Amino acid sequence: MQMEKYERWFMYATVALLVVFFMAVLASIGEAGIHLPTQVASIDPNKVSETPPFDDPGVFETGENRYDAVIVAQTWQFIPEEIRIPQGAEVTFIITSRDVIHGILIPDTTVNAMIIPGQVTEVTYTFDEAGEYKFICHEYCGLANDQIGHHSMFGKVVVGG
Ligand code: CUA
Repeated sequence: MQMEKYERWFMYATVALLVVFFMAVLASIGEAGIHLPTQVASIDPNKVSETPPFDDPGVFETGENRYDAVIVAQTWQFIPEEIRIPQGAEVTFIITSRDVIHGILIPDTTVNAMIIPGQVTEVTYTFDEAGEYKFICHEYCGLANDQIGHHSMFGKVVVGG
């Protein structure tokens, strides 16, 4: 089969690009440790208030400027709604839902996860800059009236100060 020289080069380049992209995906997993927020455990969604650590939601120091933020999501609030930590703290959010699917998103951070009943979601982020970080539910989870519903489900992380 006759092939133009340039045509052959483009075919090689296409294959090479695919290999590079595939290696980049592998490197992001292996080297950089980038991955989706994972389900780390299963719990009975009907027994959230009796199951540790969700029987006692809150912020807990686990090491030098490291914290666990244990959060229960339910229609239509996060418990707790306010998390206070020092500047530079590394926070592992440990979250579950008591009822329906919720989400947690902190804009301008890598905190972005679904919160699924019966699953425990973990996501870790280091807050290098002081300030207030709003977190919102970003999975539509229902409506009671104009005042209460998915749109009123939010909280904040207060860093430093
Ligand atoms: Cu909870 Cu939307």
